[in-house]
Amino acid sequence: MADTVDIIKKLSDNAIKVDKFINSTLVPRKPEILYDASRYLISAGGKRLRPFLTIKSCEAVGGDPELAIPFAGGLEILHNFTLVHDDILDNDPIRRGSPSVHTKFGVPIAICAGDLLFAKVYEAMSYYASPKVKNKQIRKCIEIASKATIEICEGQVLDVSFASTDRVTEDDYIFMVGGKTSALFRACAEIGATVGGGRKGYVKALGKFAYDAGIAFQIVDDILGLTADQKTLGKPTGSDIREGKKTLMIIHALSKISKKDLKVMRIALGNRRASKDEIKDAIELVKELGSIDYASKKADRYIANAKKQLKKLPDTEAKKDLTELIDYFTQRNY
Ligand code: IPE
Ligand code: IPE
Ligand code: MG
Ligand code: MG
Repeated sequence: MADTVDIIKKLSDNAIKVDKFINSTLVPRKPEILYDASRYLISAGGKRLRPFLTIKSCEAVGGDPELAIPFAGGLEILHNFTLVHDDILDNDPIRRGSPSVHTKFGVPIAICAGDLLFAKVYEAMSYYASPKVKNKQIRKCIEIASKATIEICEGQVLDVSFASTDRVTEDDYIFMVGGKTSALFRACAEIGATVGGGRKGYVKALGKFAYDAGIAFQIVDDILGLTADQKTLGKPTGSDIREGKKTLMIIHALSKISKKDLKVMRIALGNRRASKDEIKDAIELVKELGSIDYASKKADRYIANAKKQLKKLPDTEAKKDLTELIDYFTQRNY
């Protein structure tokens, strides 16, 4: 297994080209505050996983990576749009180590900045696409991006609704994550492969690869949300507990917990006023019940499944990069 240092370097090299494109599409206009708010989160950082996935999927089917840049940039913009609205839904004040957009600019501006970013996705994929990309391919990409956004909305609403009930199964969780997180990863892979002129079988295999890897990514994201160092993570830890989120770990823990411990858990789970110590006690319980190990093993299984899909593609450098990328999904610490 490659060192995470290698993939981090590859991600940041790739991000330079993509960010240049994004900045060129987000030229400030009036009102200034709208453009400030729209550019703010993008310039605050981020791992740029989705544009990497898009460009490498294009290369993996023999396509020209340059042609994928506007699509990769558009998909990173789409991701940022979902984050702006997600922090409003989740009441999260910090993202990428800085105040979240609604914390800094207020909820109304954050909603409009999100909407602007969403429109920019389609501008990137249509207006900025190279003339070398056929209209038929562009149309397909727009279809894929629209389908993904619909699934993200559906997943996000399930995520929020699950907070007010304990009757959430593991299958419910996987389905919800399939929407809120995996749909976008799948779209990145499918769009990259489509722009690259890949045959249907390859587009499908890459899509399935990214979908399964996306499930693992979210499971790990939830684990980090409980166990990581808040400064390194760049977003608040324990907030899933406070918001009552039914992560895989919580579903597992609730199925095994004793009546006595359930009382401790209830003090924190879904209680926005829970103290730091009360959250800490709940996290300890999740650890003791083996729920973190359980979730981590599940993530590994999704990664193993994702890798099976890659066997359907020819052996290339890009394929190796895609393997490194998803290994990083489970090895990262932020
Ligand atoms: C965060 O995604 C949102 C989830 C799907 C969990 P990332 O962890 O890729 O966020 P950035 O772009 O690196 O900030
Ligand atoms: C990730 O949601 C999915 C989207 C942003 C659409 P989460 O709420 O689980 O992710 P973080 O932890 O805020 O990044
Ligand atoms: Mg969130
Ligand atoms: Mg959320």
